[in-house]
Amino acid sequence: MTFGQLRLDGVSRSFGTANALSGLDLAIARGEFVALLGPSGCGKSTALNCLAGLLPLTGGSIWLDDTRIDGQPPEQRGFGMVFQNYALFPHMSVRANVGFGLKMRKVARADARRRVDEALRLVQLTDHAAKFPAQLSGGQQQRVAIARAVVLEPPVVLMDEPLSNLDAKLRLEMRMEIRRLHQTLGLTTVYVTHDQEEALSLADRLVVLRDGAVQQIGTPEEVYAQPVNSYVASFMGYRNLLDVTVTGAAGTSVTVEGAGVRLTGRGSLAQGPAKVAIRPEDFVVGDGTENALDVTVEIVEYHGRELSVSARLENGTPVYFRTDKRLAPGDTTRIGVPAERVLVFEP
Ligand SMILES: Nc1ncnc2c1ncn2[C@@H]1O[C@H](COP(=O)(O)OP(=O)(O)OP(=O)(O)O)[C@@H](O)[C@H]1O
Ligand SMILES: [Mg+2]
Repeated sequence: MTFGQLRLDGVSRSFGTANALSGLDLAIARGEFVALLGPSGCGKSTALNCLAGLLPLTGGSIWLDDTRIDGQPPEQRGFGMVFQNYALFPHMSVRANVGFGLKMRKVARADARRRVDEALRLVQLTDHAAKFPAQLSGGQQQRVAIARAVVLEPPVVLMDEPLSNLDAKLRLEMRMEIRRLHQTLGLTTVYVTHDQEEALSLADRLVVLRDGAVQQIGTPEEVYAQPVNSYVASFMGYRNLLDVTVTGAAGTSVTVEGAGVRLTGRGSLAQGPAKVAIRPEDFVVGDGTENALDVTVEIVEYHGRELSVSARLENGTPVYFRTDKRLAPGDTTRIGVPAERVLVFEP
């Protein structure tokens, strides 16, 4: 099935009086990879299940071009689903699991066989085709689940935290695999995750959710470098979040004070309370940097080339930074951060 656009218009879903999803507007182009990102309970699975047709909407509509589809049952939409828990048939071989959907659709034997072979080749499981799920590793089972979804050549593939059950190494491998599959097949994909790194590395566009409401929609570059508020910033790794007061503003340059700091940053808000957000990796250790802060090192974590340091200002405010200098607990040092890396938000 070809289409230009999958569109969600004010999609809402409530359970009793609680809004799991409130008014999601999103247009997804064919071939696009969109990630829904947010913490536990923010409405990611609700959005995905509404798209799949597994959960009826309580408001809004879903469209494939000019066709309204939110009244259609899941099988009529024909979207591929990859669940967090794989949901493979334990009594069927890998080949039979992958071919199941084609059999249900009464696809001719020879054609089905060719398509299953192709899907197994894509996920690199050709040599495991005769095995049963219990004889496979977690990553291999996950790849069977992905092959089963893509073999039907669905117009849209929906994935709900497909990598969350895997160990760190396998997760990285499968992430590459999913990206490669997307590049090869160009399937329109909606991918749910609470892992910002996974979302940034996989998706063409990110949708950041909070309590069922969209906070920001943008490319990885946009959401990473220009978070729209301190919630998105904290989710994108701006670990230093300080409550301050704006004491001066000129254009997009803002001076803030409070929490034991006096900083120049960027933002566009008038005098009054504000929140400052700085990434640990944007601090530089040494004299002669802008926005100097004197800190005492408390905890040092080893990360290969770099150290991740927890320190405190004189007034006790915690500050987190990264450095390749060999610092130790108890050391005092001066750190600084360029003004353009200091983001100032409404509190
Ligand atoms: N069947 C249900 N009945 C009542 N409340 C529900 C139901 N399903 C979800 N909710 C609520 O809706 C909100 C969103 O749930 P959802 O499963 O979409 O979150 P999520 O972002 O996928 O979280 P997680 O990362 O933990 O999977 C939560 O507050 C949840 O408790
Ligand atoms: Mg979920």
